[in-house]
Amino acid sequence: MTVRAVVKGVGHYLPERIVPNAEFETFLDTTDDWIQSRSGIKNRHFAAEGETTSDLATHAANAALADAGLQGSDIDAIVLATSTADLTFPSSATKVQHAIGNTNGYAFDIQAVCAGFVFALSNANALIASGQAERVLVIGAETFSRIMDWTDRSTCVLFGDGAGALVLEAETGAGTSADRGVLSVDLNSDGSHRNLLYVDGGVSTQSTGHLRMEGQEVFRHAVEKLAQTAHTALNKIGLGAGDVDWVVPHQANIRIIKSTARKLGVPMDRVVVTVENHGNTSAASIPLALSVGKERGQIKQGDLLVTEAIGGGLAWGSVVLRW
Ligand code: UT7
Repeated sequence: MTVRAVVKGVGHYLPERIVPNAEFETFLDTTDDWIQSRSGIKNRHFAAEGETTSDLATHAANAALADAGLQGSDIDAIVLATSTADLTFPSSATKVQHAIGNTNGYAFDIQAVCAGFVFALSNANALIASGQAERVLVIGAETFSRIMDWTDRSTCVLFGDGAGALVLEAETGAGTSADRGVLSVDLNSDGSHRNLLYVDGGVSTQSTGHLRMEGQEVFRHAVEKLAQTAHTALNKIGLGAGDVDWVVPHQANIRIIKSTARKLGVPMDRVVVTVENHGNTSAASIPLALSVGKERGQIKQGDLLVTEAIGGGLAWGSVVLRW
């Protein structure tokens, strides 16, 4: 018998304001055609003035709780993946904790940039597997619009704001890959590549800073490492591409998503794609895609899912779970 972290609820939130590519044409030397053909992005959502990451996260958390038929007070732990926290401290997770009316659990943030949700899901799974929590809310939420350099056409057209959340609950499984819940995890980072994707500010440098990216280099690493980590996570439990019902990738670029699917040996009709409407929402992109994928009727109970992501650090990883 094995304790499994099983998905009981999923939800997401996107800020009201939708920004089409055409809006960037008004103040940058760019075109809708370039953005779509190089990234697959058509629209992204931007948070309203005063709307913070924890606001987005709270909406997504409440949606996931409603989907699970639970209240905030039923949750033992809240793990929030974000690189765009409301404040330096306290954690945005504690703000969500208060907003959902939870006083008995514990809450903390995790920061692994675009790979943040995979790291948070792995941590939430570990809390459940080790008996430190029975019900965990795991959230990815970002307001990357706050760290864009609006004069840098090579980055500011790519990112968006949003949030997604899962409710995980401990369930006893048989210990086989037929169990529901998180089945396998592969996490990696390599700080020697820290200068490929970073924000040039922070608490210690007394500024907020802007996102900086060597796009082509990150692209090269993504194409190499994403299929690799997904294969590793699947191989750990004796599964292969043929067993996968849905790949739910980090949504940075349709070309990366397609190339990873090809390398994995999974056809595109088994890949959940939301990048055209969300842009790159960093740690929020996978839970957003899980929620939208379920809403579209793509993801169903019992399906085998592979999530994979890479971002600043570089940090990358994959989680295999049965929905
Ligand atoms: O989520 C974290 C992980 N992040 C990623 O996975 C992002 C990885 N990188 C990428 O997705 C792609 O590298 C980009 C979408 C960022 C860029 O696509 P690319 O095919 O690698 O383009 P490029 O950087 O090689 O640029 C090609 C050309 C350049 O012009 P020249 O030097 O060929 O004259 C750029 O200056 O496109 C130019 N360019 C643009 N043109 C119009 C760059 N940005 C723009 C723009 N509009 N917005």
